[in-house]
Amino acid sequence: MCGIIGVVGDTDTVSTLLSGLERLEYRGYDSAGVALVRPGETWRARCADGTESVAALRRACDEAPAGFRSGIGHTRWATHGAPEAINAHPHLDCSGHVAIIHNGIIENHTELQEGLEARGHVFTSVTDSEVLAHLIEEARGRGLDLLDAVRDALGVVRGAFALAAMDATESDVIVAARRISPLVVGTAAGVTYLASDVPAILDRASAFYAVNDDEVVRLGPEGFRAVDLEGAPVRLRQLAIDWDLETAEKGGHDDFMTKEILEQPDALRATLLDRRRPDGSITFDELRVSDDELRAVKRVVLVAAGTSHHAALVAKYAIERWARLSVEVDIASEYRYRDPVVEVGTLVIGVSQSGETIDTIQAVREAKRRGARVVGIANIVDSSLAREADAVIYTRAGLEVSVASTKSFVAQVAALELLALRLAQLRQTLAESEIDALVRGLGAVGTLVEKALGRRDEVAALALALLDARDFFFLGRHVGFPTALEGALKLKEISYRHAEGYPAGELKHGPLALIEPGVVVVAVATDLALHEKLLSNLAEVKARGATVVAVATDDDETIDSVADYVLRVPATEPMFSPMVDVVALQLFAYAMARGLGRNVDRPRNLAKTVTVE
Ligand code: M6R
Repeated sequence: MCGIIGVVGDTDTVSTLLSGLERLEYRGYDSAGVALVRPGETWRARCADGTESVAALRRACDEAPAGFRSGIGHTRWATHGAPEAINAHPHLDCSGHVAIIHNGIIENHTELQEGLEARGHVFTSVTDSEVLAHLIEEARGRGLDLLDAVRDALGVVRGAFALAAMDATESDVIVAARRISPLVVGTAAGVTYLASDVPAILDRASAFYAVNDDEVVRLGPEGFRAVDLEGAPVRLRQLAIDWDLETAEKGGHDDFMTKEILEQPDALRATLLDRRRPDGSITFDELRVSDDELRAVKRVVLVAAGTSHHAALVAKYAIERWARLSVEVDIASEYRYRDPVVEVGTLVIGVSQSGETIDTIQAVREAKRRGARVVGIANIVDSSLAREADAVIYTRAGLEVSVASTKSFVAQVAALELLALRLAQLRQTLAESEIDALVRGLGAVGTLVEKALGRRDEVAALALALLDARDFFFLGRHVGFPTALEGALKLKEISYRHAEGYPAGELKHGPLALIEPGVVVVAVATDLALHEKLLSNLAEVKARGATVVAVATDDDETIDSVADYVLRVPATEPMFSPMVDVVALQLFAYAMARGLGRNVDRPRNLAKTVTVE
């Protein structure tokens, strides 16, 4: 989730780039860099000082020669290659004239790099991005101008990109392109800007334009022109931006929680990108555990807290079903102190958005002390969990600011389910055709999440109708149970309404005594295999006066018989349904909290990252 900025025609290039990078620092802070370009000369500085990277870059830029009117800058969130200066952007081609910055992942970088090296190119980093500099160099060598050279290079790459390229032999030009990763262009008198996010250039540009997928833009001091990948002209859509800086940082939304809920399709796609080799095998570049070690796993233990614990609970169903391994899920703060048994072949998976939650870190340490192999699922690169675990898989959800976790849940479920499929592949517990179908299905979940997000207004209307209710029970069966737990957690933490999550079948073992008129029961009712049983449970609560809200699939015609209100979601493979169904529950909690006048981003008594026991 890197940050990108570029400027052409500026009299104060270095300061424009650095102030933009300071505003983009939240996107990634492994390293930062700039390249300044003028005829025949490229000057570059890069620093990898963690959260101090942009500050270090500012000091390094004191050495920059004066008089550069154009440049590009980047803050990095490492995906391929360690967070070190050699992997920081901008990357240069062999001649040192072409400089590129890139956000996203080039999926086929390995084969492209092999081809480029065979043709004599020398690579100086361990990133997927550097291939872009060399591909553009080759196209320039064939006489193409920078715009066509970038189009040419993009013709052979697969993956996601927001890219900006400069060339000292065609200075005062930036060529930028986008697929999936965000990119905006800004204009002012005699200066043209480029950024991954509006805040980076908000105080400099006076007009803003959105770059769409597969569009390429040539920026010069006089303005810009855009084409599609075939070279046909396209018009960029002008953005109506009357935001102050704070609103801009929230992507134009009222709060970070809305921004992050809406970012879920992108978080999913980014997390799933580049996870398959050409031979079909599932791969995690950053996972430093060999296939043989994964094959030798006899038992899996997941440890986590809060929302991450709910994602871990979903993974239990997936790993058991697909990889036929016994799985235990533990609340991290309990695991550590209960003298856990760690046998040979135990794989412990710590799940944490922040990678800093003390309970999860301590649980992982305890597991390691007892001889377990530990894998971390973390969102923050180089976090304590990432460093303490033997290996790490990064969810690539981007920075989550709101205390209530939203996009990190869907990204964690996606990463864990992909790991479950990898285990199934190695253990041969599923046929390759089944794995193929499931991986494809997982890839389509982002679109279903988009559809679920499209129903915001209906969900909000229901929440407002139930605003006076004070007690909520969230019920589900199978993976609907952890989804219900997550729905209850969202509601309680941001609306302060009392909410409990239960397995639907457990209700009659006690909690049913609490059901009376005025209580709202929210059922995750999308799993058709267990539908009849759930309908019976709902009939039981309805008979005792509860108001029933059901999250049900579009094609479910039976649910209306027991539910007072139905929140519709698109149908999907049951194991993927938590990522879709949770959207309705997040939107419900959000609308209740807003309706009650709560501060959704900063609920009382809570902290985003819990570093005390
Ligand atoms: O950073 P982590 O994923 O380890 O955080 C775990 C919990 O503190 C976190 O999920 C918390 O429950 C959220 N506020 C839930 O929205």
